[in-house]
Amino acid sequence: MTQTVVSGRKRLTISPLRYPGGKGLLYSRLRTILRVNHLTSSIYIEPYAGGAGAALALLISGQVEQIVINDLDPAVFAFWNAVVTQANDFAALLNSVELSVDEWERQHEIYLTADRDDHLQLGFATFYLNRTNRSGILNGGPIGGKNQKGRYKIDARFNREGLSERIRLISLHADRISVSNEDGRRVIERYSARDDAFIYADPPYFEKAGSLYLNAFHSSDHQALADCLASVHRAKWILTYDNVPTVATLYPNYRRRLFALNYSAHRVMKASEIMVFSPELSIPEEIESAHTDLVRMAATTTEGGR
Ligand SMILES: C[S@@+](CC[C@H](N)C(=O)[O-])C[C@H]1O[C@@H](n2cnc3c(N)ncnc32)[C@H](O)[C@@H]1O
Repeated sequence: MTQTVVSGRKRLTISPLRYPGGKGLLYSRLRTILRVNHLTSSIYIEPYAGGAGAALALLISGQVEQIVINDLDPAVFAFWNAVVTQANDFAALLNSVELSVDEWERQHEIYLTADRDDHLQLGFATFYLNRTNRSGILNGGPIGGKNQKGRYKIDARFNREGLSERIRLISLHADRISVSNEDGRRVIERYSARDDAFIYADPPYFEKAGSLYLNAFHSSDHQALADCLASVHRAKWILTYDNVPTVATLYPNYRRRLFALNYSAHRVMKASEIMVFSPELSIPEEIESAHTDLVRMAATTTEGGR
């Protein structure tokens, strides 16, 4: 398991998928939220899981008992299902596959045409493209270009040993991972009445959506998600979004806090995001103070008038 320190925080990198905007970096803040709210023996649900970076870090470090990884994208679902139910076969492919543009073409073809129920083939092709494409974007081209003249080549992000270790680690915890392929709202509804459920919703963002993910949300989906979360009975939840004014319009009566993924008190942050909290959730002091710093920094930057 890769363990690095980011801005004084521990980051556990367990997800084998590269995800633009991946939330593995939220691990330590989620851990604090779960502890402060006595949710450490809860079932933790990501209805829009993508790389599921935070879910896996919380499970494997023992912060939660069970996780639910749901994604509507059939290719992302196939990947998770193959890793959880066919880890040995998946690892065999990982250790033997060629890293070349010809193989990239082959995997690309599988990705486009494979039977959606062949989770091993489709899931592996998804993983292969995710690890060999520029920025991990599934419809981007290979790192280094088709002529491999770029500075980095197709194998730059495909460390077989490290990735096999992540697959092995996940498979050791497979009996505590449920994988599904539904609309995120259905998953939220299913756990809505459970006291022992904690939902972390990270839907496709407003401004980046479209170019990064295959299942872009439409504005009606954002509204429908807000209605769905408003009807959650007992489960506690948080939601993250990019920092756009529409979030305040959709969630006017909820506590919302700005945060930066690579927060450091000594640097001016660029991209901030918003976290929305369900009514009964206690917000840890650590999150309140980071939020206050960000608001202060934003005010200073504005006053500077540049
Ligand atoms: C912002 S990404 C999630 C990033 C993720 N939390 C991470 O840390 O890597 C959103 C994900 O939601 C999925 N998605 C899009 N529409 C969905 C829907 N209606 N229901 C469930 N998942 C959906 C996309 O396939 C994408 O993987």
